[in-house]
Amino acid sequence: MTIRVPGTTSNLGSGFDTLGLALRIYNHVTVQPRDDRHVEITSPISEDAREGATQMVKEAARFFFKRTRKAAFGFSISITGDVPVARGLGSSTTVQLGLLAALNELTGAGLDKQGVFELVNVLEGHPDNCAPATFGGFTVAGPVGKGVRVLRFAVPRQARFVTLVPDFEVKTSDARRLLPAEYPKADLVHSLNRVALVSSAFASGNLDALRDLFDDRVHQPYRTPLIPQLPKVIQAGVRAGAIGGWLSGSGSTIMCLTLVEPERVASAMQRVLANGKVHILAADTAGYAVAR
Ligand code: HSE
Repeated sequence: MTIRVPGTTSNLGSGFDTLGLALRIYNHVTVQPRDDRHVEITSPISEDAREGATQMVKEAARFFFKRTRKAAFGFSISITGDVPVARGLGSSTTVQLGLLAALNELTGAGLDKQGVFELVNVLEGHPDNCAPATFGGFTVAGPVGKGVRVLRFAVPRQARFVTLVPDFEVKTSDARRLLPAEYPKADLVHSLNRVALVSSAFASGNLDALRDLFDDRVHQPYRTPLIPQLPKVIQAGVRAGAIGGWLSGSGSTIMCLTLVEPERVASAMQRVLANGKVHILAADTAGYAVAR
């Protein structure tokens, strides 16, 4: 059973742990049941990463079997595709979501997308990557009571996301430790304002209204020491025609949204940060799907 899962960009400025958007860059997660109870990752993976990844996969599978009350089985799992690891593009979400969706198909557990999403959200701890990876498009998501609510919006087709992936990793746990425990009232009000405006601009399809709205005070200023070129890369992208830009998730990827001349925006960004790979992506509209 192979599931295709899109990579995602999250936060979009001040929408910390809340806003996300699915991109046309994909991982394929293939799950092959075994006769024993063993769990094995068969795709190439560095020895450093293997232990952590195996742990994550086992925990996700245990959680699935417990919640759905389906009989547990061992499996081989292979992850291939283009979503880079530890770059703020939701690669761990692609693995966990791909696995849960595959187990859902293989066991006939019959969860709908909301059901699969609620499981992966518990594993991830925040819904801003798993909501768009599940449903596609632009999503606004947050915990409400015991569940998690998602509102999903289509992204205008002409939008291009110029995705600059630096050659270094940033661990989300490290990047979260840099954030303060409390914020001044002025920063709180600024953030409320930005999240409402950014969400409304996407919801109405009026992307021009996003200009100057990604000037975040929640996480980007605190994380800039990890990615010192961040402000200058965004500035260069905007000067070359982009509407705006942000740190993708907890980084290290830097994202600019443009409606015009994406190649020009990409070159401008790369002139500031040369050690990286650039992708020009449209939004994914579908979310995860069984691969044919
Ligand atoms: N919103 C998270 C963070 C990353 O910025 O730490 C993705 O879930």
